Amino acid sequence: MKIAVFASGNGSNFQVIAEQFPVEFVFSDHRDAYVLERAKKLGVPAYAFELKEFDDKAQYESAIVELLDKHAIDLVVLAGYMKIVATTLLARYEGRMINIHPAYLPEFPGAHGIEDAWNAGVSQSGVTVHWVDSGVDSGQIIRQERVPILPEDTLESFEERIHAMEYQLYPEVLRELLNGST
Ligand code: GRF
Repeated sequence: MKIAVFASGNGSNFQVIAEQFPVEFVFSDHRDAYVLERAKKLGVPAYAFELKEFDDKAQYESAIVELLDKHAIDLVVLAGYMKIVATTLLARYEGRMINIHPAYLPEFPGAHGIEDAWNAGVSQSGVTVHWVDSGVDSGQIIRQERVPILPEDTLESFEERIHAMEYQLYPEVLRELLNGST
């Protein structure tokens, strides 16, 4: 099973995955994303191009599909890929694309799952891995785990525990998918 990881920025989830699984390539939609440095250090092939370099999102996604097809990718692993996946990419890879979200979906979807949970004053949030569909963080849930918000937490310490849960959960789910048990 060949996997590709998509990341827009920091790429810490990519790093955790690449340290445990062979990754065919990483794609970033930002040419200056830190994830590209991580890929270099880990010896993982990397590609980067930006939406603004194309006429429209369909053309941009066609270029991505071409890349995925060329590498015969079986599973696309979104890890901090901050774009909504549109029809061109979904038409070809729906059912073969997963995402990690730093909240307990359907609670707190969107780009600020950690801050939104924190600001809502809830006593627990979590992490979710789900299949990608055309909505925002709305696809079928594969696994999710709760992360409590402790009385002594700051936003930073809460955020750290969310990420720690991500680093544990995403490899677990990948292992299950690669073994065909999910
Ligand atoms: C993670 O919290 C992920 O859940 C969210 O974006 C963040 C990416 O972090 N979708 P990193 O780039 O993996 O460090």
